[in-house]
Amino acid sequence: MFEFIDVKFKDIIDLPALCIEKGKITTLVGTSGSGKTTILKLMNKMLSPTQGVILFNRTNLGLINSVTHRRQVTMLSQNPAMFEGNIRDNLQVGLKFQEKDIPGDNVLKGILEQVKLNKPLDSPVNNLSGGEKQRLALGRILLFNPEAYLLDEPSAALDDQTEEAIIEMVTGHVKDNNKTLVMVTHSKAIAAKYADTIIEIAGGRCSGRRGHDERDH
Ligand SMILES: Nc1ncnc2c1ncn2[C@@H]1O[C@H](COP(=O)(O)OP(=O)(O)OP(=O)(O)O)[C@@H](O)[C@H]1O
Ligand SMILES: [Mg+2]
Repeated sequence: MFEFIDVKFKDIIDLPALCIEKGKITTLVGTSGSGKTTILKLMNKMLSPTQGVILFNRTNLGLINSVTHRRQVTMLSQNPAMFEGNIRDNLQVGLKFQEKDIPGDNVLKGILEQVKLNKPLDSPVNNLSGGEKQRLALGRILLFNPEAYLLDEPSAALDDQTEEAIIEMVTGHVKDNNKTLVMVTHSKAIAAKYADTIIEIAGGRCSGRRGHDERDH
């Protein structure tokens, strides 16, 4: 789905060749500051390479309209933005922006159940905890129903049990619907359990790549 060819971003990223496969779960792991978020932003066209080319389904990403691209490839940021208002407003905001149909409360409640957020739709978001905001932002992205999800530490603010439940749900959703997931995680256990491919990033470079089979033997 994504192919990096001789890609550099400033002096932060240097990826001569990196492939992200369609329909697979790929995790990016690596120390803080190694460039994981920057790689997701390059895939989402929030940043453009200063050198080299990124192909998306074999088309030069530089030639694809950013807004069109982000409808297919949606990123959950490490610190998701919340909008003023309640949970309902925050679930609907992206869809309104994209001029899509606005789902009814039953659909929105279903999404809250999926992300394990047990709050009424009318609750103001400024009262939510960090982990609750993160799950709300994940719910917002699930409603977009993109082809590929780029999730930047979606479970960083969650306790172990909630983390497991959320990752289980997201990876199940991705597999059941033949979507593609690229997820940054600090958790080696999560990467080992759920990823088809683990890509290790160090100093903006790919320092290792392991498939599921290689890890099982
Ligand atoms: N637009 C930018 N211009 C210049 N430097 C940047 C830019 N964005 C990030 N950096 C720097 O690039 C490096 C990689 O940042 P990045 O956010 O990709 O790391 P990360 O692996 O996601 O780290 P963390 O695990 O802490 O989230 C950092 O040193 C950061 O300060
Ligand atoms: Mg980061």
